[in-house]
Amino acid sequence: MNVLVLGGGGREHAIGWKLAQSPLLGQLVSCPGNPGLADIGDVVTDVDANDPQSVVRLCQDRSIDLVVVGPEGPLAAGVADALRSVNISVFGPNSDAARIESSKSFAKEIMASARVPTAKSGEYFDRESAVARLEEMDGPYVVKADGLAAGKGVLVTKSLEQAVTWAEECLGGRFGAAGESVVIEDFLDGAEVSVIYMCAGGEALPLPPARDYKRLYDNGEGPNTGGMGSYSPVTDIPESLVEWTTANVTIPVLNELTRRGIAYTGFLYIGLMLTDDGPQVLEFNCRLGDPEAQAILPRMESDFLEVLAAGAKDELAGRTLEWSPKVAVDVVLAAPGYPRSPDVGMAIIGLDKVSEALVFHAGTTNMPTGLVTAGGRVVNVVGVCNTFVEAREAAYAAADLIQFRGVQFRTDIAAVEVVRSETGGGDSEIGGGDTE
Ligand code: AMP
Ligand code: GLY
Repeated sequence: MNVLVLGGGGREHAIGWKLAQSPLLGQLVSCPGNPGLADIGDVVTDVDANDPQSVVRLCQDRSIDLVVVGPEGPLAAGVADALRSVNISVFGPNSDAARIESSKSFAKEIMASARVPTAKSGEYFDRESAVARLEEMDGPYVVKADGLAAGKGVLVTKSLEQAVTWAEECLGGRFGAAGESVVIEDFLDGAEVSVIYMCAGGEALPLPPARDYKRLYDNGEGPNTGGMGSYSPVTDIPESLVEWTTANVTIPVLNELTRRGIAYTGFLYIGLMLTDDGPQVLEFNCRLGDPEAQAILPRMESDFLEVLAAGAKDELAGRTLEWSPKVAVDVVLAAPGYPRSPDVGMAIIGLDKVSEALVFHAGTTNMPTGLVTAGGRVVNVVGVCNTFVEAREAAYAAADLIQFRGVQFRTDIAAVEVVRSETGGGDSEIGGGDTE
């Protein structure tokens, strides 16, 4: 089977790396790909992955049998719709279903109809009503640009002034059309966990829970980012959490979409906050999480290509996925200036020295002078070991071997799991993650 992976970040490198282990794989093509993907397949850089007709032509030119879409952009733009309309298999939802991520107000509407627990919220289209709402609240304040903003459209703050400024900036065009309205919602407190499903034909197959570290600095300090690291599995959650999520979130949401005539084929990411009042949904994504995928896929023992191809045909019924008992810890090495304005073009050295961890490229590019940084999140180093202590050691040893000017990374990824293993754990419901 010839497979096209759309996207060019760490998640897509992890997807391509996992696909490359399948005996069913013919050609692996990625667009736009990255130097890590170029080592395991062909990369196509002169086709716009967000343009539906260009992607269709690429698939026809390269005899692609299956398309796996990494990021939300192509899905929101209708790439999956265009592929399906010419009978090219794709694992990723159509644009109407992708609205579950591309519009926070749509996601809230679906949750209300499906009775999914989530923070109370309202949508505001102008400064006056947004400010009036914020002034009524006690804080902390949660203000979100409605549309796609690469994980950076959300502000959680104790300061009314900052919340007001954020709402003004969103509505004033900071995120373009994504900020035509803002969603203001109640603050939720607790530990976060991500549960991702493969969905097709009304079926939902869960992947093991993962935890993303969204803030730039240790202990959940600093600005929100796309994600500075992740690990899987997560042990400080109730054992029944996945079952609970399937019954109370995933299936009701899929049913509500079906009721509205919307089919969902693809990954469905559920971001949960474990509050004292039980789990509440923070957000949906219409794709695998980045960097969650980098900590989940290395643990997968099933043939990823086989199950993706089955999913694309809506044939997931009766399947289960197999997982290694090992744990995975992913540390993101980010460029200086990330997330606001990352410096690019800095030489990266030391990748060839890493032998005890996986390396997934994210924001890198090959220049005549060698590998250089080309984005905010530059590379992921992933330790996959029997224990969190070992997996952290492997990831951080690799992080120390890879160098570029101004590299920044968090030092506390999965540290909470080490503390738990040292103190004997217990079945606590809350702990770890980035909370205020
Ligand atoms: P979102 O893109 O909606 O998931 O928001 C990004 C991050 O902001 C989440 O992962 C949380 O860390 C934080 N966040 C979002 N909504 C809330 C909320 N209602 N209460 C507390 N934190 C939140
Ligand atoms: N890790 C969160 C996201 O992919 O949006």
